[in-house]
Amino acid sequence: MNDLKAFFEECSRLVDAELERLIPTSPERLYDAVRWSVFAGGKRFRPALLIAVGRAFGADDEQLLKTAAAIEMIHAYSLIHDDLPAMDDDDLRRGRATCHVKFGEATAILAGDTLQSLAFGSIANDESLDHSTRVRLIAELASAATKMVDGQQLDLESEGKTISVEELERIHRNKTGAMIRFAAVSGAIIAGASEDQIDAISTYAAKLGLLFQITDDLLDVTQTTEILGKTAGKDERAEKATYPGIYGIEETRELAGRVHAEAIDAIRSFGPRAEILSAMSESILNRKS
Ligand code: IPE
Ligand code: IPE
Ligand code: MG
Ligand code: MG
Ligand code: MG
Repeated sequence: MNDLKAFFEECSRLVDAELERLIPTSPERLYDAVRWSVFAGGKRFRPALLIAVGRAFGADDEQLLKTAAAIEMIHAYSLIHDDLPAMDDDDLRRGRATCHVKFGEATAILAGDTLQSLAFGSIANDESLDHSTRVRLIAELASAATKMVDGQQLDLESEGKTISVEELERIHRNKTGAMIRFAAVSGAIIAGASEDQIDAISTYAAKLGLLFQITDDLLDVTQTTEILGKTAGKDERAEKATYPGIYGIEETRELAGRVHAEAIDAIRSFGPRAEILSAMSESILNRKS
């Protein structure tokens, strides 16, 4: 557990340094808004997952960091837009005012927009990777980021409605699962893993992505605003479709345990080198924020 904490800290340091290099400074107000959101102390879970998988299959850090920064940029853009008045209308994120509260809606929308193109540029211009790897990563990221948006649309459409568990799983797999799956799969692609290995990582990460949103929904009803750094209890007030809303807290916890077990099952054949990946899934199962 201490090892995992140290690993997350190391990843945050590496990724923050890369983000610092990749994010421009002018126009000042736009990039102040970008930095306000990006450097606000997020967990950096997706870049850490990418680095963990990449290292497990033998990639050098240098080959991983531009894609790791790209995924965090897409994630930050998704959060800035998710918090907008037209979407979840939140005023607190990562323990501080949301981007639109601090900088106004127009700048917040543009901050999200530029983070998206910076992310794709980061991979396209990554000279540590050959051209075919870059194109494959860009295609995978495009697909994941599109699914994230599809999921966000379905999430909004489901507000105030009773939907089936199958529909809810579809929302979660798209809005959150797809980007987490990309994080893991891109680490394996960069490391030159075999297609069978990439498939196993993809199965693991699809479960992990679902688990991540299930626990996000659980924390919304069980954790405080102070610890989350975002407003607790928002899902119920916004009449969001969530697992705790459908199943209640206890059954949702049991479901989370089952999804975690399925995630680690998918990587069992990798043996000791996948230990960190099992630990990462466990850390999501037991997370407090
Ligand atoms: C929050 O993601 C949004 C979801 C997809 C559930 P994180 O919980 O990873 O947020 P940060 O990056 O740590 O702030
Ligand atoms: C957001 O889900 C998923 C994204 C694609 C950003 P939520 O709306 O549940 O995320 P939080 O709880 O605001 O972080
Ligand atoms: Mg949302
Ligand atoms: Mg939200
Ligand atoms: Mg949430």
